[in-house]
Amino acid sequence: MPITLRDTVAEDESFLFELYASTRAEEMALVPWNDEQRKAFLTMQFSAQDSYYRERFSDAGFSVILRDDLPVGRFYVLRDKDEIRILDITILPASRSNGIGTALLSELLTEAMESRKPVRIHVETFNPSVRLFERLGFKSIAEEGFNFLMEWRAEKEARAGEKRC
Ligand SMILES: CC(C)(COP(=O)(O)OP(=O)(O)OC[C@H]1O[C@@H](n2cnc3c(N)ncnc32)[C@H](O)[C@@H]1OP(=O)(O)O)[C@@H](O)C(=O)NCCC(=O)NCCS
Repeated sequence: MPITLRDTVAEDESFLFELYASTRAEEMALVPWNDEQRKAFLTMQFSAQDSYYRERFSDAGFSVILRDDLPVGRFYVLRDKDEIRILDITILPASRSNGIGTALLSELLTEAMESRKPVRIHVETFNPSVRLFERLGFKSIAEEGFNFLMEWRAEKEARAGEKRC
């Protein structure tokens, strides 16, 4: 199953909406709305989130994740002077737990090691993906509301940091 990335294009909008909606499915099942009301709410929220990412992080890479050339997720990454920031990684529910996240994140960690930058991501404290990030060597360095700020550093650099403290 070859996993590739490509930049998002305008034609990805309906896929990206479907992907976003999948992340809100559990909440949507609890609200007393009809399908039309749910769709209107999700459309508004999706559009607000998308505009926020693209305006606030205009230098970021916005990629669609492809498996066998079919879109299965999104991977949004900001490469800054001092850090690599994962803005979002989301995979369609049917494609989760097959190692795609591990493969893409491992590749990013190799890039981070080569460019000697830390990788950071905000993750909700209750999100099961915290386990995945910890397994890959991320550590929670701050708790901000309902989020952990998680950070990965190449081992050598992390040890040097520990000695300095
Ligand atoms: C997090 C995510 C990108 C990982 O990709 P993946 O291909 O499923 O990951 P892998 O198969 O390599 O690893 C499995 C790990 O993913 C995480 N995971 C699996 N299902 C998940 C879900 N519904 N929500 C969050 N994380 C999940 C778990 O940590 C799991 O490890 P475990 O087996 O110890 O429970 C994917 O599960 C997802 O899209 N989740 C919803 C969005 C999200 O929470 N993104 C992270 C914060 S931006």
